[in-house]
Amino acid sequence: MVIHDIQDAARILAEGGVVAFPTETVYGLGADALNAEAIAKVYALKGRPANNPLIVHVASIEMARSVTSQWSETADKLAQAFWPGPLTIVVPRHERVPEIVTGGGETVALRMPAHEMARGLIETFGRPIVGPSANASGSISPTLAAHVTQSLGEGVPVLDGGPCERGIESTVVRVDQSSVSILRLGVIGRDEIARVVPVVDAPAQNAGDPLPSPGMLTRHYAPRTPTRVVEAGDVAGVLAEHPRAALISITPTNLPGSIAMPADASSYARRLYAALREADAMDADLILVERPGGIGPIWDAVRDRLCRASADH
Ligand code: TXA
Ligand code: MG
Repeated sequence: MVIHDIQDAARILAEGGVVAFPTETVYGLGADALNAEAIAKVYALKGRPANNPLIVHVASIEMARSVTSQWSETADKLAQAFWPGPLTIVVPRHERVPEIVTGGGETVALRMPAHEMARGLIETFGRPIVGPSANASGSISPTLAAHVTQSLGEGVPVLDGGPCERGIESTVVRVDQSSVSILRLGVIGRDEIARVVPVVDAPAQNAGDPLPSPGMLTRHYAPRTPTRVVEAGDVAGVLAEHPRAALISITPTNLPGSIAMPADASSYARRLYAALREADAMDADLILVERPGGIGPIWDAVRDRLCRASADH
């Protein structure tokens, strides 16, 4: 069910309900970040594993400070430089944040979205809200209100804010002392962050270690149809073997069932998830994606998502 009024959406949150909301990256599934019962509904609707923590969305740095036990100078520099915007900052959790938000962990992920409707909703509600991408766990994130309904059903109210401008999820960084490490690639790249605070590599994982960011499982953002990403030069060969494939490519083709992608990074990212959904709806036996070769943080994030979309089950 699509709604247009921020007041209506805020009322649903105040009643302990769930409402999807637009951000500049993807649509989020909102609930009161301090209400454990409301948050349980978010996990249930998404079918999300309980150990995968949620991002808490705030409308001000003051609100961010209210949900962390340590707002360091490093966190503050990042927020001053990149908020509102697609950067999520992982900091120590304040005890008033229910454990269900943080997957039982001692850190909390915070982000101030750039979309005016998102901030308007948080301000009207007056408290922070959780916002995982508003899709069933593991599947493609929604970049239109209609995608939310396709993924989660008519029962979930969606505040319609139009198409998401960025199209892929926020960059996630963890703050450790005076440096940060990148847990999820996004449109804000390492070099841009390194101009503000030192960036170190995330510590190597040993078997059995708790996951640094449980959402970073390999298979994610995935269509139902098997998906393969190949170099431009290999597209024709794979198509010869899979004549019923749906092709997503920048290189123009006149094949029926092919989706033409824009050549610039921002436009490609904005279009990516909708293109994967369209290809998934074509009844093809394979989604074939021509691997984009561009250089820069947005292309890196796009290739990261394509890699996860095409990973084995
Ligand atoms: O752009 C976005 O970030 C969107 C919009 C709606 O804001 N939200 C989003 O949420 O992508 P979600 O839940 O789909 O992805 C959140 C990611 C997951 O990979 C999760 O594991 C990680 O952030 N995360 C959340 N809390 C964390 C924490 N305390 N420590 C490490 N990783 C965390
Ligand atoms: Mg997600």
